[in-house]
Amino acid sequence: MISKKMAKAINAQINREFYSAFLYLAMANDAMDKGFKGASNWFTIQFKEEQEHAMKFAAYLQDQGAKVELAALAAPKTEWKDLLAMFQEALSHEKKVTAWICEINDLAIAEKDYATQNMLRWFIDEQVEEEASATDAIWMLEMSAGSKGALFMADKTLGKRKDD
Ligand code: FEO
Repeated sequence: MISKKMAKAINAQINREFYSAFLYLAMANDAMDKGFKGASNWFTIQFKEEQEHAMKFAAYLQDQGAKVELAALAAPKTEWKDLLAMFQEALSHEKKVTAWICEINDLAIAEKDYATQNMLRWFIDEQVEEEASATDAIWMLEMSAGSKGALFMADKTLGKRKDD
């Protein structure tokens, strides 16, 4: 059984993961509106992954006999200047998510809650991957600056991302 404080922290993280899903769905929509089908595919897959993250946390709470408490989601914005701005915001959002997960891990350490520390290990590894893939996209888009052909190819590359 986990503490009430831990259940509250994990419920807050469930809300953040669903917000992340919402944010990436908004980016997928805006990328599509701008004619970038590849980037839209990339963000749609990210949208699905974030829901899986939320559900993984929810399953953990239930396994621990704690209540899942869903809360209202903030509305994400609906438009970005360009693809680079979207991925820059995605990276800064992921850095915040990493910090939140580390805070929960700090709490688990303070509470000598070994089960939660183990569960969080997967998320800590996942955050390294999430930050790296947003950074790769930023690098590719920065390299494409000023060239419509290069941007077209970057979008094609983003379109190759597949569901895990
Ligand atoms: Fe669920 Fe992108 O962190």
